[in-house]
Amino acid sequence: MSTKTESWGSRVGLILAMAGNAVGLGNFLRFPVQAVQNGGGAFIIPYLVCFLVMGIPLLFIEWSTGRYGGKFGNHSTPYILDTMAKGRIWKYIGVFGIFTNIAVAAYYCYIESWTMSYVYHSIVGTFNGMSQGDVANFFNSYVDVAHSTTGIPYEAVVFYVICLLLNTYILSKGLGGIEKVAKIGMPLLILFGVVLAIRGLTLGTSGASDIFPNANAWDGLNFLWTPQFDSLSNPKVWLAAAGQIFFTLSVGMGTIHCYAAYLKERDDIALNAVSAGFMNEFVEVVLGSLIVIPIAAGYLGLDWVIQNAGFGMAFQTMPYLFQQWGEVLAIFAGVFWFGLLFFAGITSSLAMGTPWMGFMRDEFNWSKNKGAWSFGFLALTMGLPTVIFFNEGLFDQYDYWAGTVSLVVFAFLETILFSYIFGIKKGWAEINKGADIKLPGFYKYIILIVTPALLGWVLISSIPDWV
Ligand code: PHE
Repeated sequence: MSTKTESWGSRVGLILAMAGNAVGLGNFLRFPVQAVQNGGGAFIIPYLVCFLVMGIPLLFIEWSTGRYGGKFGNHSTPYILDTMAKGRIWKYIGVFGIFTNIAVAAYYCYIESWTMSYVYHSIVGTFNGMSQGDVANFFNSYVDVAHSTTGIPYEAVVFYVICLLLNTYILSKGLGGIEKVAKIGMPLLILFGVVLAIRGLTLGTSGASDIFPNANAWDGLNFLWTPQFDSLSNPKVWLAAAGQIFFTLSVGMGTIHCYAAYLKERDDIALNAVSAGFMNEFVEVVLGSLIVIPIAAGYLGLDWVIQNAGFGMAFQTMPYLFQQWGEVLAIFAGVFWFGLLFFAGITSSLAMGTPWMGFMRDEFNWSKNKGAWSFGFLALTMGLPTVIFFNEGLFDQYDYWAGTVSLVVFAFLETILFSYIFGIKKGWAEINKGADIKLPGFYKYIILIVTPALLGWVLISSIPDWV
């Protein structure tokens, strides 16, 4: 164990860094996929329920667990969990969380590398004069080996490696600059997101598309926002909803422990956690639903959206939208939009590197440099297969097992540790220590009973799908 040396510069900086960690590709690109694949209006209700009775409680749990463990000079989930309970098993569960971070970072950085590549292609004018069909095909061949003579989608691999190198380099230098960058980038991203959301809302019956004259943006919105109650008993939808909530809030893999370990003992948790959580949900529910889905439905039709729901949707459609604004504006819009997405992505993928680095520091006293490069190496080894076998579905398997199931499993274990082993009495006191708001008392019982019960039910009822 080493002693605490850094702490957070300011409250705004802390919230923005936490929000930067949370707001990422998950909000803009993953949420629409999950919503569409799980029945649109059928997904939204479980999603919101999961936010209130799982997401918020887990934010409290991870923030307070991190601050508590950090008090003893720990920086990583295994050591932090170890301070809360006797028994080595918790340390190993912490290690499981760390590997989830690496597995998610591995494929997450692939999507991040698309945004980087699209900035480049916007600048050099690749999309100029393309029809909607051409734009969609460009993406399809970008990720597909079948379109390459060498058997490797080499351009995709190059951007992926550059993206990982950049992540590794920044991690090796420390995250000091992140707070500052987040202060500028986050508001800009939200601002431009609002502009695009307005466009999404006003795209209407397109005719805007040369090839799919019946495409209609409102079909997309209706699909998403017409509540359907019939699938409330479907565990698959609940698993997806819980997984998305954890993914987007960055809980269920211990990342927040590592950030919160730098809090001072009497720093507020309750208000900070709720603010960062709600800010993230605003971006996800409003911007995540008003940009990609209506625009894709507006150009290609709802049927296309349902059949092709995937991280690629935004890449298959947005450049075409920008083309409608004229060539010069298209360059700016492309650079701005994909650049801001890249920024949102990198503040998240960097966060995924911190648990591994903290662990290597706690366990072996490794330097930042060593920690960062070993992280980059692991992520590369795990991620390259998802790049090369993207169309064979390996990427989706990662997203399901690492990006959904593992988060729910870890969250469940963490909740049990917090409420039943560390003890809810002590736990609730930790959450409220230094709090700037008074939390309603019933939340204690939600954390104690509702969160683990619902998590347990989701997990147990998902087992038939796995065997
Ligand atoms: N919350 C991030 C997103 O929505 C992803 C993330 C998960 C970041 C876990 C850090 C840790 O994109």
